[in-house]
Amino acid sequence: MWAAVADVGRDAGGGYLRDAWSAADLELREWFRQEAGRRGLDLREDRNGNLWAWWGDPDTRPGVVTGSHLDSVRQGGAFDGPLGVVSAFAAVDLLREQGVRLGVPLGVACFTDEEGARFGVPCMGSRLLTGVVEPDRARGLTDDDGDTMADVLRRAGRDPAALGPDAETRRHIGAFVELHVEQGRALIDMDAPIGVAASIWPHGRWRLDFTGRADHAGTTRLADRDDPMIPFAQAVLAARTAAERRGVVATVAKVRVSPGSANAIPGHVTAWLDARGEDEHAVRDLVAEVGAGAQVGCESWSPRVEFDPSLAARLAAALGGAPLIGTGAGHDAGILAAAGVPTAMVFVRNPTGISHSPEEHAEPADCHAGVAALADALKELADE
Ligand code: GLV
Ligand code: MN
Ligand code: MN
Ligand code: MN
Repeated sequence: MWAAVADVGRDAGGGYLRDAWSAADLELREWFRQEAGRRGLDLREDRNGNLWAWWGDPDTRPGVVTGSHLDSVRQGGAFDGPLGVVSAFAAVDLLREQGVRLGVPLGVACFTDEEGARFGVPCMGSRLLTGVVEPDRARGLTDDDGDTMADVLRRAGRDPAALGPDAETRRHIGAFVELHVEQGRALIDMDAPIGVAASIWPHGRWRLDFTGRADHAGTTRLADRDDPMIPFAQAVLAARTAAERRGVVATVAKVRVSPGSANAIPGHVTAWLDARGEDEHAVRDLVAEVGAGAQVGCESWSPRVEFDPSLAARLAAALGGAPLIGTGAGHDAGILAAAGVPTAMVFVRNPTGISHSPEEHAEPADCHAGVAALADALKELADE
């Protein structure tokens, strides 16, 4: 199964480009459809483009769901997302081999546009489903080519008018568990192949707009310039020093400079600030400090998520004493947990400790341990 997804959207340098609704994403969605079909699962696409493959009928009673996403960050790694979807199908196979029936429907999910690489807002599929993003706002978001999400959906044969909260699909999800490659070093440091999520840090993305005046790079005296690159550069440095001082993390990794000519002082700089940390106030204070010289707009905000501690502890025990770890990475599981779904996450060790990069990795033995752990977790959740 892994081989079928491993090459989709991969460039010569080994990085992945799997923007939501791109050709690579559509190919992976078709792969999902085929995997569901091969297993006789009932394939449904909800109004927000999330895919569901059901073993059993969730209209009769809510099911236990597992899955993740198939889109990637730009130049991303192989495992962030796909490992959770491939493992979900593998866990269904394992439960069937073991002759286990959970007593409730079992669903495999693929959430749309988890990374927000194209339109800026992460976990778009689960946010729309649970009503934490306005469908009008989603439809109007633009990608780097200036295409709106509505345009892109139409081109992909979807109806943008259908986007929005989906009580029917929400009702089908009695519980959710997402398996994910670990994106930091916690499991390496603890020498553990598998971990269970305890919490997700509060995190968000902000757009910072710096406006100046475009002018000639050779003829404009320094004293006469209004160069937005200067406050932008100060904001980047401020993000680093404020993060160190406040004990959080902050990243500026996407910048748009207009007009972008080497010999013209820019008229406008747009930068995106990603900030996260244990302490929500520290994150918000950092954003206020860093954005002081800019016009600031919040593109997404995800409050702290505490996964159900008793469920997490039970899972950790059922998985042979797997460690409980917190994470600064966002996940659809966090959006569902915030919407009141009993939710858990299983992490698989990443021996490089690097993620959102082609260097992200997971060893086959750890992936197999992950599938076994996921099958056990599904049994635990079915007992909720
Ligand atoms: C998703 O991977 C995120 O936390 O940015
Ligand atoms: Mn239904
Ligand atoms: Mn990611
Ligand atoms: Mn992910």
